[in-house]
Amino acid sequence: MRKKIVAGNWKMNKNFQDAEDLMFEIVDELTEKGAGETEVIVCTPAVYLEMSSDIAAENGFMVGAQNLSQWESGAYTGEISAAMLHSMGITHSIVGHSERRTYFGETDKIISAKVDLALKYSITPIYCCGEVLAERQAEKHFDVVRSQVSEALFHLGKEAITEVVIAYEPVWAIGTGVTASSAQAQEMHAFIRSLLTEKYGADVSAEISILYGGSCNAKNAAELFANPDVDGGLIGGASLIAADFVSIVNSFS
Ligand code: 13P
Repeated sequence: MRKKIVAGNWKMNKNFQDAEDLMFEIVDELTEKGAGETEVIVCTPAVYLEMSSDIAAENGFMVGAQNLSQWESGAYTGEISAAMLHSMGITHSIVGHSERRTYFGETDKIISAKVDLALKYSITPIYCCGEVLAERQAEKHFDVVRSQVSEALFHLGKEAITEVVIAYEPVWAIGTGVTASSAQAQEMHAFIRSLLTEKYGADVSAEISILYGGSCNAKNAAELFANPDVDGGLIGGASLIAADFVSIVNSFS
């Protein structure tokens, strides 16, 4: 169902004590400022999921994983399955982040298997797509995103696709301090929604949340979130500072 969502992606940061402190700082900020109608999700490193989900559950927000295995169970040393996450009460997972595509060789085929397993175990996949700088400069960004979205998601039926959250994260904007302009974000989000409309119809497409990620911060979030097809953000660096993260949560007009 389409919602306003702000999700934090801590990536591989923080030791245990700092992570716990940050969780409590987020609780304090949310208690003070509230979250309005916005769904708040914090995607912490896997080893902190138990600690962070306990704290979040008591305070009205959610915790997600940053990744899950493409396999269901078995001899896959080091992997964490969708079933394991589900058994710990985890409700969301980022899937197909560009850092996983780049550093761990994740293809749309692998990511598509992860989406299926997430849905099988009632975990909302936050499916990431987005072009690299050279692709944008060559004006191939729409083709790239069309291919990513269709290859990884378009085998899903109408009901399943409404369980997916899509995050558009232009790779050139991730961790660079260069944000997509509000117009660039809206243009791509509207394009993604048009792909969903073409495949599933307008009613289904209108039900899907599309988040923006890439150097989104407390200063630029309001302008990005004011766009009709931007339903929130997937926040990296700024999610490591509780006051900034909760300020982004409250950036909807
Ligand atoms: P930054 O907000 O640090 O650019 O990271 C975005 C991101 O990759 C979130 O998944």
